[in-house]
Amino acid sequence: MSRTSSPVIVALDYPEMAPALELAGSLDPTACRLKVGKELFTAAGPQLVERLQALNFEVFLDLKFHDIPNTVAGALRSAAAMGVWMVNVHASGGRRMLEASAEALAGLSSPPLLIAVTVLTSMDAQDFVELAYEDSLGEQVLRLAGLAKDCGLQGVVCSAQEASTLRQKMGSSFALVTPGIRPAGATRDDQRRVLTPAEAMDAGSSYLVVGRPITQAKDPAAALRAINASLSA
Ligand code: C5P
Repeated sequence: MSRTSSPVIVALDYPEMAPALELAGSLDPTACRLKVGKELFTAAGPQLVERLQALNFEVFLDLKFHDIPNTVAGALRSAAAMGVWMVNVHASGGRRMLEASAEALAGLSSPPLLIAVTVLTSMDAQDFVELAYEDSLGEQVLRLAGLAKDCGLQGVVCSAQEASTLRQKMGSSFALVTPGIRPAGATRDDQRRVLTPAEAMDAGSSYLVVGRPITQAKDPAAALRAINASLSA
């Protein structure tokens, strides 16, 4: 049973535990979920995840596993044992890695949602030339999302620009988790193409990853409330 009906996942992009816990303490676990990524997890580890969960938050553990199937399956079992709500792997790990990932979680009584990263949004056409990938970037996103779905994964991380095409091609029950979200009038920071929360939901997103517009706000709880209100308007 989910603790929140909000699609917002707040990205805790901090180098250590204390500011992450402080921010979490200012937010309402019935109003959002939290994302813990590589920087924070490498510094603060499972203990931080436990403390966030003790505050009643559902946690997306964004570690983007990519290794041989046996290793990724083990990492996912460890993540599941922590009780996290969502985990992810790189779809480019290929079919056997993806199938092993889905299988590792299949027998559990309340497994985390398992999603895939398709193409990193930091990559461009020039990277594809250098890597000798023959698909265009858009084709590769669709190919990898299709592969992930075929292997039993429940969704992908995607840019809001990709969301409407993916929603069309992958069907209504496939989770689309989209960063690059900025409320109207907010600073873009280093994000290049941004959509507002409402635009991203209209494009077919299931969950919105929002970092700095909430974490750097003078009043993070108010910033979160405003985003949630913009979605129910
Ligand atoms: O602060 P901001 O809202 O830009 O944070 C976005 C979060 O989503 C960060 O944790 C960032 O690493 C993550 N992310 C992203 N773009 C992707 C994948 C993840 O911005 N393609």
